[in-house]
Amino acid sequence: MFDPFRPDLLAGKTTLITGGGTGLGRSMALRLAGLGARVAVVGRRPEPLAETASAVRQAGGQAVGVPCDVRSSESVKAAFDEVERQLGPVNQVVNNAAGNFLALSEDLSDNAFHSVVQIVLYGSFHATRELGRRLIERGQKGEVLSIVTNYAQTGSAFVLPSAVAKAGVLALTRSLAVEWAAYGIRLNAIAPGPFPTEGAFSRLMPGSDMEKQALRRVPSRRFGEHWELTNLVAYLMSDASPYQTGDMVTIDGAEGLFSGQEFAGFAHLERAQARQLLAGMKPKK
Ligand code: HXC
Ligand code: NAP
Repeated sequence: MFDPFRPDLLAGKTTLITGGGTGLGRSMALRLAGLGARVAVVGRRPEPLAETASAVRQAGGQAVGVPCDVRSSESVKAAFDEVERQLGPVNQVVNNAAGNFLALSEDLSDNAFHSVVQIVLYGSFHATRELGRRLIERGQKGEVLSIVTNYAQTGSAFVLPSAVAKAGVLALTRSLAVEWAAYGIRLNAIAPGPFPTEGAFSRLMPGSDMEKQALRRVPSRRFGEHWELTNLVAYLMSDASPYQTGDMVTIDGAEGLFSGQEFAGFAHLERAQARQLLAGMKPKK
């Protein structure tokens, strides 16, 4: 890991991370707490929350795990109440909880579409509104960061509920960045490409062939590492970025651009091979 930050970068921040018990959310909890934030991880299953909170505390940070289903605004409100009882006023949220699976869209049941949109879009709305209400009431500034995906702007086949919901979260981010700027509340989004996690890869990369195919779409020729993402999270959640709001920062090794570029395939050839191929096409004098 490359660490560009001072160790108290996030002192004074109390950050609630939805879906913080596993995967990228867990890595964020460890990183933000390591930089001085008090961290609350919320999700449906108590076990991963307890494990993550304990790992943070073992590393010297402050953390609690509180069960919560982000699909329910009452559950989100109750989780905020419990976190604030234990850690004090929350001033940041990371909307990280998600649901996703590969499916033919014509085969989706009502409930399949509903369940992903409820987790991703409604869940982000519930947590963002709850934080906003509390910050506005207290006259405090704060930050909201939403983890979308690099297909939030383009859409994506075979993950329709996720694509629709992530696009909605991006619209939420941009809308509220304008509406709540007067309160000093900043909202940004991060759009990751593939970062190996059990939750995402077990559902979206069935088998090593799919993984190999996915790698071929990444010009950087590798998947992301968690520390690369968590450094970006730390920066956007810190007072080092006070003028940055309403933004979506992509972190995907240029994967998203690759798919839209006509001649991008040459980037996957060895340089000498590409040079030879292209030189062969140059008219002889
Ligand atoms: C079609 C499916 C399905 C599948 C579930 N369903 N899986 N339909 N194909 N593979 C349907 C079910 O049949 C059901 O509809 C409905 O979805 C709800 O499913 P449940 O299992 O009852 O719901 P629940 O227990 O709430 O689980 C929600 C979930 C699950 C989204 C389906 O996968 C989950 O808990 N996911 C959380 C973690 C996660 O998905 N992480 C990955 C994020 S990765 P019926 O009609 O039968 O009742 C990500 C990044 C993408 O977002 C970018 C990567 C590069
Ligand atoms: P993950 O480990 O499966 O994380 C998803 C988390 O959401 C889990 O901890 C899950 O916990 C929680 N969750 C799901 N439904 C919930 C609900 N109703 N209420 C509360 N919490 C809920 O997957 P990940 O890869 O780390 O994904 C994290 C974020 O990164 C997601 O927003 C995802 O879309 C985004 N992302 C990931 C990748 C990637 O390649 N990994 C790429 C682009 C974007 P419970 O099941 O216990 O509730």
